[in-house]
Amino acid sequence: RSLKPFNTLAVEASAARFAEAHSDQDVIEALAESRQLNLPLWILGGGSNLVITGDVNALVLRMGTLGIRIIEDDGERVVVEAAAGEPWHPFVLHCLELGLCGLENLSLIPGTVGAAPIQNVGAYGVEIKDVFAGLTALDRETGSTVDFELAACEFGYRESLFKRQAGRFIILRVRFLLTRSINLRLDYGPVRQWLQQHAILSPTPMDVSRAISAIRSEKLPDPKILGNAGSFFKNPVVSESVAEALRRRYADLVAFPQDDGQVKLAAGWLIEKAGWKGYRNGDAGVHGLQALVLVNYGHATGRQILALAREIQADIAERFGVQLEVEPNIL
Ligand code: EPU
Repeated sequence: RSLKPFNTLAVEASAARFAEAHSDQDVIEALAESRQLNLPLWILGGGSNLVITGDVNALVLRMGTLGIRIIEDDGERVVVEAAAGEPWHPFVLHCLELGLCGLENLSLIPGTVGAAPIQNVGAYGVEIKDVFAGLTALDRETGSTVDFELAACEFGYRESLFKRQAGRFIILRVRFLLTRSINLRLDYGPVRQWLQQHAILSPTPMDVSRAISAIRSEKLPDPKILGNAGSFFKNPVVSESVAEALRRRYADLVAFPQDDGQVKLAAGWLIEKAGWKGYRNGDAGVHGLQALVLVNYGHATGRQILALAREIQADIAERFGVQLEVEPNIL
């Protein structure tokens, strides 16, 4: 089975076996089947944070479980639970239409609900951990379901227990804590600007969602049109002394101080400064509008994309003394 339609980088690769799960029972059966066949079981969400580097000798199980329900509501705080296979952006819109606030900054992110906690998806000042109320996963080691609270997930910047212990837990359902009152996070400059430009003085969560969707669409390529996996590198966090030395060399360095005294650099800025923005080698390239995004112009393989990433990493290390870490999962 070709995996090309199931990864947003649109890399060609085949899976030894492929199945889709529409219920918890399907997941349990796939687990049993993978044992019988002596094939590893590999869980696929939206395939939007993934680089496939060759044919996959595994049973690939695509999470297609659906269902959204309110499980707690005290008139103000509302807990919504969604099945892992729910596509992310329609889920965000659904919550907004229910009059619930909290997910608007995470609008238009590709992928599924079940994949979002794995890398603690974040954008425009909000991360999954900020709206997280728990999740239910299947522990493959014990075969039983486990509930995780916020602290147990060990969320960090594009990090979680589920990413570090890749493959152990299969996320089945995720719960989000949303509010009926409006609590917006508008610290990201371009969002405030967009609202001003559109003369929106007291924005609703839906307005913020529109702003974010517009801002994302301007810079980030639509994977349906141009294959990509979002940001290909994490923004590197360096010590204040490293940042200061760079600031002396580059007055326009983009750097954000962190609570722990370290400094987060904009990887996109480093890559652009090094001259890679818009670079293309065969069908693998660096997006012309956002240098942090690697793109597939048609027939690039996962290996070619990764080779480009390694070249960029080496160049950034040499020029700036900063190590970039690849962000998507590599299979
Ligand atoms: N920048 C450049 N050149 C570029 C790209 C960025 O100079 O080509 C500069 C911008 O001018 C800006 C700074 O870098 O000052 C930050 O850029 P941007 O706001 O576009 O965000 P980012 O740091 O590049 C991160 C996330 C995105 C998320 C945005 C918005 C990571 C790895 N990426 O990107 O997440 O949408 O912030 O919050 O943290 C993803 O993870 O796949 C993703 C798209």
